[in-house]
Formats: sequence, C-alpha cells, structure tokens
Amino acid sequence: MARKRLVTSAAVRGKRVLVRADFNVPQNEHGEIADDRRILEALPTLRYLRENGARTVVMSHLGRPKGRPDPRWSLAPIAQRLSGYLGQPVPLLAPITGPDSRDRVRALREGEFALLENLRFDAGEEANDPAFAAALAELGELFVEEAFGSVHRAHASTVGVPQRLPAYAGFLVEKEVEELSRLLDRPTRPFVAILGGAKVADKLPLLRSLPGRVDRILIGGALAFPFLAAQGADLGATPVEEGLSGSVGELLERAQASHTKVVLPEDLLVEVPGRRDAQAASANRVPAGAVARDIGPRTRDRFYSELADSRTVFFNGPLGLAEDPRFSAGTREVLAGLLTIPGFHVCAGGDSARVAEDLGVAEAFQFVSTGGGAALEFLEGRELPGLAVIPNAAG
Ligand code: 3PG
Repeated sequence: MARKRLVTSAAVRGKRVLVRADFNVPQNEHGEIADDRRILEALPTLRYLRENGARTVVMSHLGRPKGRPDPRWSLAPIAQRLSGYLGQPVPLLAPITGPDSRDRVRALREGEFALLENLRFDAGEEANDPAFAAALAELGELFVEEAFGSVHRAHASTVGVPQRLPAYAGFLVEKEVEELSRLLDRPTRPFVAILGGAKVADKLPLLRSLPGRVDRILIGGALAFPFLAAQGADLGATPVEEGLSGSVGELLERAQASHTKVVLPEDLLVEVPGRRDAQAASANRVPAGAVARDIGPRTRDRFYSELADSRTVFFNGPLGLAEDPRFSAGTREVLAGLLTIPGFHVCAGGDSARVAEDLGVAEAFQFVSTGGGAALEFLEGRELPGLAVIPNAAG
C-alpha cells in the first residue's frame, strides 16, 4: 500500500493539532487499565508534536457506550496514564464539544495537551454526523490519524474530521501500514497463517481472502470446530457456531483450487465433566458430554512441522482456552516453536498479543499490530475508510 503523508511533513508549531488515537484499551473488573500498549504506542507521535511546539488535542473512544455519557467508559484513567507518561498535565475535556472545551483548547500553549472525553458519548461519532464532525474539526487546525485500530470505522473522528482538515498519518499508523503491507505485497514464501480464537463468523472474510495468498492455513481454537463438524466429526458437547457449514465447505474448495493447504486439528484436549485434568481425544470423536478446549499434542507437532520451513507467518487468535493452564499448551508450544524458526512473524488482535505475552512467547513475533478488526480487514486487502481519507505521501 502507498505510504501516507506523515506528520513530519506538517508545519505544526503553534497549531492546534487534533490527534485521533485508539485508547480503546482492555480494563479489568475494577475499570483499571489492564494493558496500555495502545497508549505507549501513541507516545512517539505525541512527543514529536510536543517537541515541535504543537498545541495537541487527543481524542479516542473507549468501549461501546451507545452515544451517551457513561462514567464506566470515561477516559479519566487514560488521561491520568497519559499525563504520567508525558510528565505533564493532560486535562480531560467534557463535554466533548461546546464553548467550554473550545475555550480550553484555544487556551492551550505550545507543547501542551488536552484529551477529549470518550467520543462515543456522543451519538454523532459512530453516525459520522456532519454537525458533530464539524464541531470536532473546529477544535483543530490540523488532523493526525494515529488510531490504526479504528481505521476500519467510518466515524466522525476517523473520516468526518480528516475530510475537513489537512490530514496526516502519525508514526504508529505509518509503522502499521508498512509492516502489515509486507504480508500483502510479495511476502517471502512459504507463508503460513495460524488462525484460532472464538469469533468464527468474524474471521470468515479474512479466511476467504487467504487461498492463493498463503501456502498453508493452520486452524485451531473454536475456529476449527465448524470445519471439523462439516467433515462429519462428532464433537461431543463442544459448542459449535451454527450456520457456517456452507461457508466452510466453500472455503475448503477455494483453498484446494488455489493449492493452499488447510490443516485442521487431528486431536484435541477436552474437558470431561467431573474431571479436573485435560483429556486427549481424537478430533473425529470427542466423548459424549466432553467439551473440546485446545488442540492436542499430535496437532501441535503437525503444526510445528508445517511451520518449520516457513519464512512469513501471520498469527491471529489463540489455539485453545489459553487463559486456563490446562488448555494453554497448544498456543504456547506452537508459538514457542516459532521462536526457533527464522522469518517475519506478525501477530494481530489485542487478545492474541496479550495471550502471547502471558504465555511468555511474545518474542516469537517481529511485529505485533495494535489493530484487531482493523488489522484483519487490512490483511483482507480491503480499503479502510480511515486510511483512504489520508492523502498519500508526495513522490
Ligand atoms: C478495536 O479495539 O478493535 C478498536 O478500538 C475498534 O473498536 P470497535 O470494534 O468498538 O469499533
């Protein structure tokens, strides 16, 4: 994909710069930030703007608060964390638009920051309402897109504002586009995709785009169940997402026609009612009442042998219920195997990165995307509205 016009080509000194970040970070049950990688990744652009005398207004969404203020989804903890990292106050402006926030933004001095309260507290954000987009745009003179995780959304802050202001990409967006493009533009072969996770229907569009582009697709996690079921496997009491047998069959045919090998689990680790320990079972025949929770040891070996000569690997979605130590071996061992295989390995999806870190195998990846849905759609080769609206770099 062509490079986007970068923030370094903008004259930012003294200007009010509106930065769209993606601070949609996971929180624990107490509403505390559980993982602040998305905040850390936005810092280089924010520091660059400070060093170059911008008056910076940062904006983001958090969660899905449905268009009205909800303290559960306030950006207050993010403002606090940002201010700690930047070593200066980052006041939170609420309400998002209106005379108060406008005056406070205009009062910002060079090198100062403010953070707007959660954009999704206003229904105009997700609707890309022209009046809301115009009110946001009025707060800045320039726009910087740094929310790679949100560029697949055509919302007011990701499309409406950059349509109204000179728009640039931040360093994170630049890095994401560059690294993920390596998977789209002539990746070094063999190229292997390892896909797992729970939301099967969400992964189908990506899966459909892979035949012909990758050499092998290794499928684990709940994603494997509709494939196994379509081949007549008896999965015991394992919940299988319904209505997918047609799509799965079509995908397998397409893969075969394109000489892309699809590798499904041969064995599984299952949870049997009344037993604490994990039991191994054939992937064709899970005992009645048992629930499949992970790929089994034979499948781990098979996946490793399919990866051994790979030169490019894309990983999305754990291969089992990795948060349960009884069912984490599949993901852990396959990724630990990757540590020993040279090549360019990419991990996408917030959960995937967290799982790899929790299992101590994050080093298996040369690049970890901050995008979830955005990274998957990018890799499908789709045009993403939040990127399309940013002009390409000159030359
Ligand atoms: C994400 O976490 O994938 C992005 O922040 C987008 O969030 P959304 O799916 O609620 O639009």
